[in-house]
Amino acid sequence: MQRPLGQVQFDNQGRVVVVTGIAGGIGWAIAVAFAQSGAQVHGFDVQAPSDSADGVHFHQVDVSQCDDVSARIQQIAAQAGGIDVLVNNAAIQPVASFKPLHEIEPSLLEQMLRVNVGGYNWMARAVLPVMVQQQSGVIVNLASAHAWRSSRDVPGYGPTKAANRMQAVQWALDYARHGIRVVSVSPGAIDTPLVRASLEQQGGEGALANRHPLGRLGTPGEIAAAVLWLASPAASFVTATDVEVDGGLGGYGSFADPYPLPDRYRS
Ligand SMILES: NC(=O)c1ccc[n+]([C@@H]2O[C@H](COP(=O)([O-])OP(=O)(O)OC[C@H]3O[C@@H](n4cnc5c(N)ncnc54)[C@H](O)[C@@H]3O)[C@@H](O)[C@H]2O)c1
Repeated sequence: MQRPLGQVQFDNQGRVVVVTGIAGGIGWAIAVAFAQSGAQVHGFDVQAPSDSADGVHFHQVDVSQCDDVSARIQQIAAQAGGIDVLVNNAAIQPVASFKPLHEIEPSLLEQMLRVNVGGYNWMARAVLPVMVQQQSGVIVNLASAHAWRSSRDVPGYGPTKAANRMQAVQWALDYARHGIRVVSVSPGAIDTPLVRASLEQQGGEGALANRHPLGRLGTPGEIAAAVLWLASPAASFVTATDVEVDGGLGGYGSFADPYPLPDRYRS
């Protein structure tokens, strides 16, 4: 699943990077890419990653718990002497949430808001004072193609991803004067456990791949490459914006080819 970063070299020697959701597809690829380019990586997740990698330190933290997040960030900042990069990536899209709004369990809607929106807030809220003190830092929020346009049956997840994009814009505006950049990345469908779990709800792997003009799912490494660029000095004039890494998905706009309609939409 991992694509090499190719010829592009990033130097993250001596940088301290916090990534959430490292037991998942995209988070793990980001954590490893930072570590391989020299960073000290602290990865948060509710479950341990199945692999280990030099330079990646796992912390069992639920990002929806404000006090736990805050305590752990303070500990890392004190031990490491600062935090240079935060990647907000942990999010959930339960298979049972692929339903129109009135059919979704209220508790599931609340859970998506708590993790996907609340978690990003708590992480940034804990890290920003450290970055303000340094007068430097970069935050990258993983948003989604759903931050820009949508498909059927994602009334819970989709709007949380739009929120992630606007959280980045908001924090970018508020903290630019402290030398802090904040951006978001919006992936198309990437081959990860999250997407594998819901292939049936999304019309099957072939149909999902074909909705992307490049005709395939993306790889976690292709998202990591964008995140490493955005976090690097090469992107020093990039802030308060979103980068779509989506195989061209967004280019179809209103001509998007809908995947086969679920039965409930046929009359
Ligand atoms: N895979 C895609 O096609 C795709 C597309 C667009 C956007 N994204 C976004 O990319 C990010 C990563 O997605 P992925 O496909 O790698 O997902 P994934 O399900 O493979 O991984 C998500 C990880 O987050 C962790 N997590 C869940 N709740 C948590 C919590 N409360 N605290 C800490 N960790 C928690 C999970 O344990 C898991 O390891 C998400 O923000 C997702 O919305 C993914």
